[in-house]
Amino acid sequence: AMMVGRRARRWRGWSRVVRVLEEFEESCATPVGRLRQVVDAMVVEMHAGLASEGGSKLKMLLTYVDTLPTGNEEGIYYALDLGGTNFRVLRVKLGGQPSAVIGCEIDEQPIPEQLMTSTSEELFDYIAATLKDFVDRENETSEPSRGGGRELGFTFSFPVKQTSLSSGTLIRWTKRFSIEDMVGRDVSQSLQQEMSLKGLNMRVSALINDTVGTLALGRYHDEDTVAAVIIGTGTNACYLERADAIIKCQGLFSNSGGMVVNMEWGNFWSSHLPRTKFDVDLDADSQNPNDQGFEKMISGMYLGDIVRRVMLQMSQESDVFGPASSKLHEPFILRTPLMAAMHEDDSPDLREVARILRDILEIPDVPLNVRKLVVKVCDVVTCRAARLVAAGIVGILKKIGRDGSGGITSAKMKPLRQDRIKRTVVAIEGGLYTNYTMFREYLNEAMEQILGEDITPHVIIKITEDGSGIGAALLAASRASSSAVGAL
Ligand code: GLC
Repeated sequence: AMMVGRRARRWRGWSRVVRVLEEFEESCATPVGRLRQVVDAMVVEMHAGLASEGGSKLKMLLTYVDTLPTGNEEGIYYALDLGGTNFRVLRVKLGGQPSAVIGCEIDEQPIPEQLMTSTSEELFDYIAATLKDFVDRENETSEPSRGGGRELGFTFSFPVKQTSLSSGTLIRWTKRFSIEDMVGRDVSQSLQQEMSLKGLNMRVSALINDTVGTLALGRYHDEDTVAAVIIGTGTNACYLERADAIIKCQGLFSNSGGMVVNMEWGNFWSSHLPRTKFDVDLDADSQNPNDQGFEKMISGMYLGDIVRRVMLQMSQESDVFGPASSKLHEPFILRTPLMAAMHEDDSPDLREVARILRDILEIPDVPLNVRKLVVKVCDVVTCRAARLVAAGIVGILKKIGRDGSGGITSAKMKPLRQDRIKRTVVAIEGGLYTNYTMFREYLNEAMEQILGEDITPHVIIKITEDGSGIGAALLAASRASSSAVGAL
C-alpha cells in the first residue's frame, strides 16, 4: 500500500507533464525544410548587413583582416583572450617553417564574476595585471627573445566596431558581461592605458574577435579554410568575403581583394526560427532582451537554462519532481555541462541524471520514468541548437558559393557539378562542439541533410585548438612581419 501511495503521489499530473513535453518538442521542431528556410534567411540577412550599416540585425562587422597567416610567421608573440568563461594569456613562439607553433604557454583563469559587471577601469586593470604577472614570470624562466615579445594580439569576443586592425570601439556587451561605461569606448586604448600604468612596454597590434582568431589558426594549418564558428558560452561566425561584396564600404582598401567579416550571428533573427514560450521568457529575463536571439537558442550560456525552464513548468503542473523545489527557480543553476552530462548518461538506471537532480537541483528520489523525461528535454534543446548551427554554416557556404547550389556565377553555365566542388573547410571551436558528442552528431547529421550526399564529403568541419588565442598571436605576427603577407 505504501508503494502504491508513493507512486500515485509521484505521478500525479503525469499526463500534463507529457503534454508539456510534447508541446515543447513540437515547437522546437527543425525538419530539413525549415532549416532550409533558415539558411535562406541567413543569406538574405548577410546581404542586408553587408549593404548598409544597420541594414540587418546581422551586423556583418569589418575586421580589417585582409590577409591571413601563411605559415611563415616567426617570432614570439603574446595574446590575450577575453570573452568566454575563462580569461587567458598566451605566449606563442612561431617557428617560421611552414605552420610550426613551436611553443605555447597558456595561463588560464576564470574571470572573477564581479568584474563582468564592474567598471572598465577595474576590468582592464585586472587584465593588465594578469598580463604583467605572466610576462614577469616568463622573463625569469625563459631566455630573452630576439626582438620579439612586444607585440600583442588581443582577442576581445564582443561586437566591436573596428577602426583599424588594431583598434575599435565596443558596440555593446553580450553574454554575461555588462559594464556600461565601456560601451562606445576604444578597447585597445583602454588596455594600452592600463598597460602603461603598469610599466608594460607592449603594443596591441591586432584587436580581433574569437571567430577571427579561430579562422586565422584554421587557415594557418589548412589553406582551404574559409569560415570559422564558435559555439561556446556564446556563438558567432566569421568568413572571408570579397571586398567588392561589402557594399557598405565601397572603395574599401584591401591588400588581397578580400576581408574577414565578423557576422555576429548570435544576433541573427528570423521568423523561421522555432521559438518557444521558454525562449521568450528567457529573453525577457536576460540582461539583453531582444538581442542575441539566435545565441540564446544555441550557446552554452543558455541551453541549460532552457532545460531548467521546461522542468520548472513541469514541476508546476504536476508533482513529478516531488514537492516544488526552490532550486528550479534559480536562473542558470543548471549549467550546460551538467545538462550534457545528463543527456549523455548511458547507465541503464540513469544514475548521473539522478545525481545531478539530487545534488544540484535538490530533487531527490526521481523515478526512472521521470529521469527519462529530463533526458528527453535535454535532447530536444540540444538537437534544435545543433541543427540551427548547421543551417547557419550552410548559410555562409551558400553566400560564398560553396554549398553546391551553383551560386550566381554558374547560373549561366551548364552545371558540371563534380568539377566545381571545391574542398571547403570550416574551423570550429568551443566547448559545445568539442565536449558534447550529441551536439556534434546532431550538427553533422543536419549538415548532411541540408547539403545532400554530393556536397557533404567536400565540406569539412575541423576543430581547432586555442585558435581564439593563438590566432591573435598569428595575426599580430602577420601584422609585424611583411614577409608574412598571404593573399586571401
Ligand atoms: C558573443 C559575442 C561574439 C563572440 C561570441 C562567441 O556572441 O558577441 O563577439 O564571437 O559570443 O564567443
